[in-house]
Amino acid sequence: MLSQKFQKLFTRDAAESLWEHVCRWSHPVSSRRILATIDKAELVRLREHYPYRPNARKINAYEDANYWVGVNVKRVQDLWLDRSRPLDILDLGCGPGYFLYLCRMFGHNGLGLDPDDEPFFRGTTKFFGVSRVVGRINPQALLPDLGKKFDLVTAHRVCFHRIARRENGEWLEWTEADWKFFINDVRTRFLKPDGRLLLEFNRRADGSSFFTPELRTFFESQGARIVRWKALLAANPAERPRFKTRSGGL
Ligand SMILES: C[S@@+](CC[C@H](N)C(=O)[O-])C[C@H]1O[C@@H](n2cnc3c(N)ncnc32)[C@H](O)[C@@H]1O
Repeated sequence: MLSQKFQKLFTRDAAESLWEHVCRWSHPVSSRRILATIDKAELVRLREHYPYRPNARKINAYEDANYWVGVNVKRVQDLWLDRSRPLDILDLGCGPGYFLYLCRMFGHNGLGLDPDDEPFFRGTTKFFGVSRVVGRINPQALLPDLGKKFDLVTAHRVCFHRIARRENGEWLEWTEADWKFFINDVRTRFLKPDGRLLLEFNRRADGSSFFTPELRTFFESQGARIVRWKALLAANPAERPRFKTRSGGL
């Protein structure tokens, strides 16, 4: 039992988790200060106005600002957005808009992209003052032209790579060719020369990492730096980007 605990303690994931905590601790961000700017009662009113769709999973209670600000403070810290020069940021699958709301608080200029499937997100992005383009990402299809390039393209808790559920409940996912097309499209049409693409994935249904050994090898072959459930890619495929940029302004 004890040895199992030690094993877990020294897994790669545990080591990377500890490192993330240390980094965040070195540049703290106050969730309380951010939460003070959000009218939580209005979020609850929005949820009443746009109730859950029938059969929708309620685990993503996006009206819970305390929880989602906490999650997004970590995202901001992990990319050092609380210390960097103002960036142009595109958030794919921006959902309710918390991430871009926080980005704006730290001086960045954000744009979201999301299909208009969830009326509640229409309400929350408006409430947060987040600019959003309505669009859907499809395998091996170019993203809509947005007329500009970005310093950072993000996709948090990605689900656009899930095509359909198989009979056994598992997802039919994008192939490596689909990922290659998407990464190349973002690199060539949406990233500035020093730009970066951040992909953050949910765990699989059985609790394992999105990055199977094959997918880890594939993303690394595309130049990704993988930390826990995140892959960071530079505009230049030959470059392995860092979460903390040199132009971080520290
Ligand atoms: C799990 S939610 C994550 C929301 C937000 N990024 C976050 O982490 O809080 C997934 C998001 O992806 C969006 N989405 C789903 N399929 C998509 C597609 N094919 N193209 C673009 N966005 C998609 C959903 O509307 C939703 O906002």
